[in-house]
Amino acid sequence: MTARGRRGAAARRRRVVVTAGPTREYVDPVRYLSNESSGRMGFEVARAAAERGDHVVLIAGPVELATPPGVTRVDVVNARDMLRATREAFRTADVLVMTAAVADWRPRRKRRGKWRKEGGGESATLELVRNPDILAEVARRKGDRLVIGFALETGDGVARATRKLERKGADYVVLNDESALGADRTTVDILGRDGSRRRLERRTKRAVARVLVRLKPLRA
Ligand code: CTP
Repeated sequence: MTARGRRGAAARRRRVVVTAGPTREYVDPVRYLSNESSGRMGFEVARAAAERGDHVVLIAGPVELATPPGVTRVDVVNARDMLRATREAFRTADVLVMTAAVADWRPRRKRRGKWRKEGGGESATLELVRNPDILAEVARRKGDRLVIGFALETGDGVARATRKLERKGADYVVLNDESALGADRTTVDILGRDGSRRRLERRTKRAVARVLVRLKPLRA
């Protein structure tokens, strides 16, 4: 390839931001609220994007997974850290894929010392406040850039996922259910803002990821 060809190819590389894994919301220095997300779907999306030549930033909650080759990884712990990192990375990006299972709630305050039971009764209350909705916040300023969200719904989730797609301002929402958690294979419905619906049945997460990184922005 000529130098000009190389420069052209580099200029056309998409910049893709992927979020993955759970977030962890600390109650005290040793306890936290979190969820079952393994991060595998997001890591597969990051891998698939890098394999097709995209420049990839992977914003990962606490997970035990190796960084895919060619991917820049930013580790975060809680939802507010993830929001900051995602905003920053998306500023210069073309695509956002939000696979992260962001905790919807966090304790109002993190205790500085361990939460002890001495002096307490037989019950305790933990006050929670809402975390920011990262997808909704970032999608608000997306312009014509591509934003893909996920929706984990139990039962028949198409109607709920469609409402989520509209409410959050994403181009696509990938609907899955709790059987995807930690599993190698998953069944998803890819719902588009244009009313499109594509079902991928019992595919590996790697195969689903390869479909997701080929999605194109939708016209407003
Ligand atoms: N999401 C987010 N910030 C949050 C919660 C969710 O960015 N605080 C994103 C997820 O990464 C996912 C999408 O929103 O791409 C949908 O997540 P989901 O957990 O299914 O929806 P919620 O908005 O949390 O709604 P609920 O749990 O009440 O169904």
